[in-house]
Amino acid sequence: MTPRREALRAAEGNAEPRLVSLAELEQGQVSIAAASTSSRFAVIGAGRVGASLALALCAQGYTLSGFTSATPAGRARAEGLLGRAATLHLPALVALRPEIYFICTPDSVVADVAAELGAALAAAGPQGPAAPPVVVHTSGATSVSVLAPCEKAGAAALVFHPLQTFPEPLTGATRFAGAGVALTPGPGRPDMAGEVGFRTADDLGMRPFLLADDKRSLYHAAASVACNYLVTLEAIANDLFVRAGVPERVTFDLFLPLVRATLDNVASRGPVDALTGPLSRGDAATIAAHLEALAEDAPASLSVYRSLGEATLGLVAARGDVSPAVIARMKELLTGL
Ligand SMILES: NC(=O)c1ccc[n+]([C@@H]2O[C@H](COP(=O)([O-])OP(=O)(O)OC[C@H]3O[C@@H](n4cnc5c(N)ncnc54)[C@H](OP(=O)(O)O)[C@@H]3O)[C@@H](O)[C@H]2O)c1
Repeated sequence: MTPRREALRAAEGNAEPRLVSLAELEQGQVSIAAASTSSRFAVIGAGRVGASLALALCAQGYTLSGFTSATPAGRARAEGLLGRAATLHLPALVALRPEIYFICTPDSVVADVAAELGAALAAAGPQGPAAPPVVVHTSGATSVSVLAPCEKAGAAALVFHPLQTFPEPLTGATRFAGAGVALTPGPGRPDMAGEVGFRTADDLGMRPFLLADDKRSLYHAAASVACNYLVTLEAIANDLFVRAGVPERVTFDLFLPLVRATLDNVASRGPVDALTGPLSRGDAATIAAHLEALAEDAPASLSVYRSLGEATLGLVAARGDVSPAVIARMKELLTGL
């Protein structure tokens, strides 16, 4: 924790964040209604991320002022999770005067929602002596600039993108702790937005870092490779195992321990040292046999195997224990050139 964060925490008398367990959430031991002197917040779009965030923040003593969802079914789901009625319109949400608004809608509508919220904030006018609100969106791919209408209405703007996956809110609420979060304050009130972003991340036990807005697409591509393409790779591996005769109902049970151990190795040793297998040993004959088998039994997977194999050669070279001549031979095999 930085000295600034330590000072802030000391000033607030704020202890280490209490990490809420899934069991507590399931058993309703986290009281959403419990009022607190901590930040009052609202969620616009209480879906997977929005409801996860609401549960996690309430577990840390924040107060949920209100929330919205787009459809009756979405509202009913969120009401069941958050234990209170949804707010139907943004002006009604603004009238509750939350200090932080989290826009957690699909990426495609964040800009429209921000424009609507900006108009509602402008119509409501300043909050008297209270600090202006902070409007946050959680989309990794979307520029902070879409929040400009809210900044124009006097709010601070922030992107708060959790580097985590949230398939549903109950487990989602337990996944903030320990995860990274990319913060991009807007140009209007960057200090205030940054302060709220770091404090919220800190309260959730997250690891905040600043992300430049013009590097957002590259950053989001990295997150897609790390998360989404890992899913694709495991799906391809599953298909190949099944084609090789491994019983389909148990393939994942059989090979996921290998995947988990590999991730542990990457975490503890870094990718160069974690690499094992025929490429790392310079075993060109085995690579040739793989290519032949794939061409015969799974030609659709050949191009992925070839391009990832070629990318892996950079790690092999960095290890330094396979000769450049053997690396060149393996490259010929993989590229067919
Ligand atoms: N899920 C993840 O793993 C993850 C991780 C990091 C960041 N994010 C980001 O977080 C944001 C939310 O993602 P999500 O996965 O939580 O989406 P989600 O589960 O689909 O939830 C979206 C929420 O927005 C509401 N909504 C839809 N259209 C709306 C509109 N036009 N106006 C107001 N509300 C609307 C939905 O209501 P209904 O349910 O009634 O349709 C729902 O409450 C996205 O920007 C996403 O990129 C997601």
